[in-house]
Amino acid sequence: MSSRLVDRFGRHVTYLRLSVTDRCDLRCVYCMTEKMRFLPHDQVLSLEELYDVAHAFTRLGINKIRLTGGEPLVRRDVMTLVERLGQLPAELVLTTNGSQLRKRAQDLARFGVQRLNISLDSLQSERFAHLTRHGRLEQVLDGIEAARSAGFKRIKLNTVVLKGRNDDEVLDLVEFARRSGLDISFIEEMPLGVISEHGRAECFCSSDELRERISSRYPLTPSTDRTGGPSRYFRMADSAIRVGFISPHSHNFCSECNRVRVTVEGRLLLCLGNEHSVDLRRILREYPGNTERLHQTLVDAMAIKPERHEFNLDEAPQILRFMNMTGG
Ligand code: GTP
Ligand code: 5AD
Ligand code: SF4
Repeated sequence: MSSRLVDRFGRHVTYLRLSVTDRCDLRCVYCMTEKMRFLPHDQVLSLEELYDVAHAFTRLGINKIRLTGGEPLVRRDVMTLVERLGQLPAELVLTTNGSQLRKRAQDLARFGVQRLNISLDSLQSERFAHLTRHGRLEQVLDGIEAARSAGFKRIKLNTVVLKGRNDDEVLDLVEFARRSGLDISFIEEMPLGVISEHGRAECFCSSDELRERISSRYPLTPSTDRTGGPSRYFRMADSAIRVGFISPHSHNFCSECNRVRVTVEGRLLLCLGNEHSVDLRRILREYPGNTERLHQTLVDAMAIKPERHEFNLDEAPQILRFMNMTGG
């Protein structure tokens, strides 16, 4: 089925990023402040409402649903939602910080999650603890092990690279990915919310610089593989893994944008780097069970999808919502 969700620029929206919680057991320095305050429960969509949103999107042509957060696996009862979403006619995938995977990986795979993206910013325990503020590297590595044996189609590691904080580990992380047989994407940090621990401009590390560094040890050849997200992939001669780069600053990918986000407050965000949004929670609560109304709201929302994000590292952040409120 072709998508009924088409914007003013002719882009077909086929990828939904659905945030199931703004909460997280970590406090990564690029994502949120140390004293982050989370949403009260009545402002958060129920599991039933989240399902209804996902269902409506699949009726309109979405063929990929990525569960995000915060950390999706800290939401109580989230597995009942995962099980239901696994029955919808869309690829179901999930982005996680890995901390809960030891206990969740088997069920995620069993309920139909096909691919996992797991954040991993450092292989050094102390540094990992600093970057995540609350995280324990051993727990995440153990989670990655559990995921590897659970039978997912593919697992990708995600590393947000910050100059002077973890950019010296890029080759170590590639080695780790090669040994583990996992893809890895290196991400340029995006200026969402005001953070205090580092200057985003000073810590900027371009994908081109990283690609050159990696290529000096493992020559990289461009691959046409895509996973429906913004990552551009490269391959190495002697390994099956892919090395990806997500480069919102240095290689804008907005012209190919195929995605929208729904925050856990039920805000349909048409672009990560803009505030254009529609309040789906209001529609869900004022017109319960009115699927026609919900469908029409989603179709109409495409008219306000902006052409591109407006990130500028040299100015104070224009977008004040943090990544955990945005849906990763
Ligand atoms: P797959 O391609 O399915 O593997 O997923 P993905 O890379 O799209 O998802 P993931 O959750 O792993 O996100 C990786 C990074 O890409 C995160 O930092 C996201 O915020 C970022 N990202 C995903 N979509 C967009 C987008 O539309 N715009 C921008 N600027 N960043 C995005
Ligand atoms: N810029 C870029 N990536 C970010 N992530 C969280 N905050 C930011 C940011 N400000 C990453 C996480 C995770 C993915 C969903 O988004 O590390 O891998
Ligand atoms: Fe949690 Fe992910 Fe944000 Fe880290 S980046 S604090 S793991 S939501």
